[in-house]
Amino acid sequence: MQKKVDFLVIGSGIAGLCFALKAANYGKVCMVTKANIDDTSTRYAQGGIAAVIYQPDTYEKHINDTMIAGDQLSDRHIVEITIRESTDRIMELVEWGVDFDKTANGKFALAKEGGHSEFRVLHHKDVTGLEIEQKLILAAKQHDNIEILERHLAIEIITQHHLGIEVNRQTKDITCYGSYVYNPQTKQVDTILAKTTMMATGGIGTVYGNTSNPAIATGDGIAMVYRAKGSVTNMEFVQFHPTVLYNPRETPSFLITEAMRGAGAILKDADGVAFMEKYDPRGSLAPRDIVARAIDNEMKQSGCDHVYLDATVIDKNEIFEHFPNIYAKCLSIGIDITKDFIPVVPAAHYSCGGIKTDEWGRSSIHNLYAAGECACTGLHGANRLASNSLLEALVFSHRACLNAVENINDITFCDNVPDWDTKGTVLNEEMVLITQTKKELQTVMCNYVGIVRSNLRLKRALDRLWLLYSETEELYKKSILSPEICELRNMINVGYLIIKNAMERKESLGLHYSLDYPPQKK
Ligand code: FAD
Ligand code: SIN
Repeated sequence: MQKKVDFLVIGSGIAGLCFALKAANYGKVCMVTKANIDDTSTRYAQGGIAAVIYQPDTYEKHINDTMIAGDQLSDRHIVEITIRESTDRIMELVEWGVDFDKTANGKFALAKEGGHSEFRVLHHKDVTGLEIEQKLILAAKQHDNIEILERHLAIEIITQHHLGIEVNRQTKDITCYGSYVYNPQTKQVDTILAKTTMMATGGIGTVYGNTSNPAIATGDGIAMVYRAKGSVTNMEFVQFHPTVLYNPRETPSFLITEAMRGAGAILKDADGVAFMEKYDPRGSLAPRDIVARAIDNEMKQSGCDHVYLDATVIDKNEIFEHFPNIYAKCLSIGIDITKDFIPVVPAAHYSCGGIKTDEWGRSSIHNLYAAGECACTGLHGANRLASNSLLEALVFSHRACLNAVENINDITFCDNVPDWDTKGTVLNEEMVLITQTKKELQTVMCNYVGIVRSNLRLKRALDRLWLLYSETEELYKKSILSPEICELRNMINVGYLIIKNAMERKESLGLHYSLDYPPQKK
């Protein structure tokens, strides 16, 4: 089946939905999403969304905090754009019906998280993402110009390569004509031709065994763009959230929001002693890279599987008001957080790197935009400031839409794109091979490419990955196309990019910490 649309949006998280809602006022939008529409990282966001709302906060303070968290690797121009446009984008969310918590006097209730010098995080209790996702989905479903295709997996973006024209990493003018998309009803691959394609496929967390990310976070967009010879950058900067609930049987790991530390909760060791001051004067509210490394170090020194978060210091009413979801979750496994310490560990949480984009969300491939976690705008540098990612998705999906709309009338469809070439046979062993390889990949990434790295560990990871890559490519060529094999290939691609970029960075900076390159004193 072949279909033509003005805008193809791949992904239904905050980035995809915001782009779709705006683009739909200018043309036909088709949104493909590989699971249920709300199966996104967005819906799990807890802490909230950072923006400058009231004095004494200022744009300068938020810009400064973002630069410090990013270890000065952030692109200052992009940081300025993001922060200065934050207030307008938040007001749009409110217009779409998003209900942020307010204080008794009717002002927005603002929380604080690690690395923020002011209270500036808007939230809806501890389920901010769910509130945003639900309101945006409602608006998208009501828009006549938006077609939503659930359980449709984008497999590859279509470029000249598919017309038989050779494309390599030096090719300057690669153009995107849409995407090949797996259709679950027919089990065939459809061709969706688009004037403009928006990649909004989210993060990469499942490349690691221990992650806060839902199963959809397999880095598909990043891998597709890399295979299409587009620019992907900064993949070594994988953010580990310092505090997910230690509950080894649960995947993904349940997040314990940083806003709890903002409200006063303190990290403690097994003896109940606060340890963060040993590592940083900002204590439990130091930027995430520092806190995650400190916890990693404490666990290695003590031999314990976790540390603790003491939230008993927070007023009970505040727990019930602001953190009802975390309270209920912990209680369900026998932990009353108003009385008991919460066992926590770090887990892979966020990719600061991704598809390289400019200030208009444009990728290096013509007519292909990227926004949200799969994009690398330059905002986060070497480490993301907490709650800046929902904001980044808002700002750059908006900017991408402005740019796309301006150019849409100059773009014509590509008419000679061939259908997907389906070959292969069903292999009996296929599923078990895919699941085992996925587990092996996750183990390699956790063991050798985690919070603390070294040249030797990275080399080991690369060697092991090479084997997984070769075996999986063999399997992919032989077998009938399935979502599972596509995702596995993407995860291996992403693992490779993380390792490659980590090997190339001969220093410790932000989230990339190597024993071979001790950090420079600043
Ligand atoms: P997502 O919301 O992940 O959406 C990606 C979409 O792409 C999904 O619909 C998925 O199905 C689809 N997709 C992927 N691949 C394909 C494919 N091949 N074909 C078709 N569809 C595809 N950030 C904050 O700023 N504040 C927070 O408080 C916060 N808390 C968080 C808590 C948790 C537990 C997690 C996991 C993340 C949190 N983050 C937070 C990060 C933030 O939620 C994400 O970075 C952000 O939601 C990403 O939005 P997105 O639109 O880019 O991607
Ligand atoms: C959290 O609530 O701690 C997550 C915030 C984020 O990842 O930005």
